[in-house]
Amino acid sequence: MGFLTTTTTEHKYSPGLEGVIAAISGISAIDGEEGKLIYRGIPIEVLAKNSTFEETAYLLLFSDLPTQDELENFKMDLVEHRELPENLLDILNSLPRDSHPMEVLRTSVSFLGHFCPDKDKDSRGANIRKALRIIAKIPGIIAAWARIREGKNVIPHNPDLPHAANFLYMLHGERRPEDEEKIFDVCLILHADHGMNASTFAAMVTASTLSDIYSAIVSAIGTLKGPLHGGANERVLYMLDEIGSVDKAEEYVLDALAHHRKIMGFGHRVYKSYDPRARILKEYAKSLSEKNNDMRYFEIGDKIEEVMIREVGKKGIFPNVDFYSGIVYHFLGIPRDLFTPIFAMARVVGWSAHVLEYLQANRIFRPRAIYSGPIDREYIPIEKRSG
Ligand code: ACO
Repeated sequence: MGFLTTTTTEHKYSPGLEGVIAAISGISAIDGEEGKLIYRGIPIEVLAKNSTFEETAYLLLFSDLPTQDELENFKMDLVEHRELPENLLDILNSLPRDSHPMEVLRTSVSFLGHFCPDKDKDSRGANIRKALRIIAKIPGIIAAWARIREGKNVIPHNPDLPHAANFLYMLHGERRPEDEEKIFDVCLILHADHGMNASTFAAMVTASTLSDIYSAIVSAIGTLKGPLHGGANERVLYMLDEIGSVDKAEEYVLDALAHHRKIMGFGHRVYKSYDPRARILKEYAKSLSEKNNDMRYFEIGDKIEEVMIREVGKKGIFPNVDFYSGIVYHFLGIPRDLFTPIFAMARVVGWSAHVLEYLQANRIFRPRAIYSGPIDREYIPIEKRSG
């Protein structure tokens, strides 16, 4: 057998694990050529139109749409677990005010793990309870941090409000108009799962060692944070600001492409056509821009899209979920650095669903690397090493 090296191996190496099948899953599927996404068999457009975040979360976690009773119980469970412990608020108050909210979220979820009543249990029931506690608490962590860093009071959750509306309420200290609450609910549905993406894989790798769900979600948060994954959405708005006006958009894109700079919010490992989530978000970005009488971001974005599709559409590069979500969140009054935490607030459902599913037939993830270093190298005593 010997070492697996660049000269001895016939193994296929797939940079970034592209095309590697790492699991069998019944949770969600993407048709990258046709631009389709289904959750448990139901098209994303159908869920966006008819479902709620809570109902979709139930579907992803437990395979089927809930009955009325099941949905009520699930919603009650989530509400019951929303409250943040006082010692977590103390921790938030002690963090540097310029910490990125994704760092704060990572620390907070890790901290919560210490106090979970099911901490030392790893049955499926205990794992589900842990997942629900994390899903329920993440909105409160994000909203609390957004206010604490500005020296404002933390707003307690409103048990009468659903997950999405309650987050906006805790963030702003008052309710947003109903149409905005609905749009935000759909945003959470659209971000709730997406197959074997990097952060989901990170969560599964951690869980596959039979570590705990808190650790798996912490791994996922750290992975989502990067600009090639969830961190692209806030960068899109910085780019729109940098461009400034629609007449400069074409030149900006052409210059970026000529210098091999990526346009944030475009391209995807799996989609080689228009991301169906971006299609829905684009409509919301447009309607909110119209409602606010402020078309600047939308018009720049639309122009970027036109130029990108003309220039690199043939390479399969189209807008992804991150391109228009930022404009939507901007008009919901959400600060830019909360865009990725909001992604996490929705995607924690997918992370949990995949971990719970994988643990049912767990096998530790352990790929191999082709060794490209020297073999049979001499050990030189330190006193004889030069340089
Ligand atoms: N702008 C310009 N060119 C791009 C872009 C882009 N956004 N994305 C890919 N390309 C080009 C690359 O330059 C490369 O061109 P080449 O073959 O001429 O060298 C080709 O398309 C393939 O790109 P890769 O980066 O190798 O594709 P990969 O599948 O590894 O990466 C990724 C996918 C990371 C999403 C990439 O498209 C990207 O960096 N996009 C910008 C960041 C972004 O929007 N991330 C969010 C993704 S969605 C999500 O995670 C929620």
